[in-house]
Amino acid sequence: MDKHTARGLVNEVTGGRRMRRRRLQPWLRDLARENVLTINDLIWPIFLTEGVGTREPVASMPGVSRLSPDLAVDAAKRAEDLGVRALALFPNTPSELRDETGSEALNSNNLVCTAVRAIKAAGVDVGLITDVALDPYTSHGHDGVFGSNDQQIDNDASVAQLILQAQTLAEAGSDMIAPSDMMDGRIGAIRASLDETGHTDLPIMAYAAKYASAFYGPFRDAVGASGTLKGDKRTYQMDPANGQEAEHEVELDLAEGADVVMVKPGMPYLDIVHRVKSAFGVPTTVYQVSGEFAMIEAAAANGWIDRDKAIMESLLAFKRAGADGILTYFAPEIAAKLAK
Ligand code: PBG
Repeated sequence: MDKHTARGLVNEVTGGRRMRRRRLQPWLRDLARENVLTINDLIWPIFLTEGVGTREPVASMPGVSRLSPDLAVDAAKRAEDLGVRALALFPNTPSELRDETGSEALNSNNLVCTAVRAIKAAGVDVGLITDVALDPYTSHGHDGVFGSNDQQIDNDASVAQLILQAQTLAEAGSDMIAPSDMMDGRIGAIRASLDETGHTDLPIMAYAAKYASAFYGPFRDAVGASGTLKGDKRTYQMDPANGQEAEHEVELDLAEGADVVMVKPGMPYLDIVHRVKSAFGVPTTVYQVSGEFAMIEAAAANGWIDRDKAIMESLLAFKRAGADGILTYFAPEIAAKLAK
């Protein structure tokens, strides 16, 4: 068949509506773009370690290092210069300070509190989000504490600890706290306790739909919890098979007072991001977790994908799914790129 006959056929089947007409000219592609990624969307997770001037590369996360509090101040300044608006802080607690109940989480001079105070003292204008969960502090690597029978994580005993941890993080000067533990009722319990102690204006970002995922491996290396983790987290994190349940989780966290809700991981859970944003219309964040970061880096290192394009595409996909904010280890690099 010749091209002219084909043209007639195509015009007939499309009725002359050709999608490619809009894609042929770059300015028109730009004009027709439905979603854009901006610097305001980015939250940069960083890891902390003890010491001064200490930078420890995380083997499973190329380009990512644990930073001592003084270097965390430098990272915060870098974020400010680049226009990254917020950091999420995670500690690698020295193993001798880890115990059954994660008591170091309640120490107002622990790594996270020290870093928060140091960044604030340096006058850096960047939002500091601190994590409420016990896994970087427990000897068993779980986000909560075990009950007396030692078989499973005890919800209410865990919440009792998390309330105190949230209080400690609030007093250190956090700008937002982010419970990532998935215990029932912890958002409401923490909210009530913050309100009672004058922290009514401190917002809570709930890790509302957090799945028991295989994509957290490198993070557990980074916070030193992978060697210690006893069993798995399936009695509190969600089953990857469930979607409707995510809406239920988000509904409960919102009713308990969450200001922002998160879906985690990111790339394999875009349907959940879309469901949550569509169902509730509240500020919704997504976490491009360590395993997603590692996959992109590993494939790129092998020359299997175009690293920079794959990163941008992954972040734009979060926007398309409905995310308002994205926690990503690529944040500083992408901010630099977006500023150009
Ligand atoms: C635990 C926590 C995890 C991550 C953030 N907070 C890991 C886990 O649930 O085991 C993972 C983040 C990442 O993989 O980048 N409180």
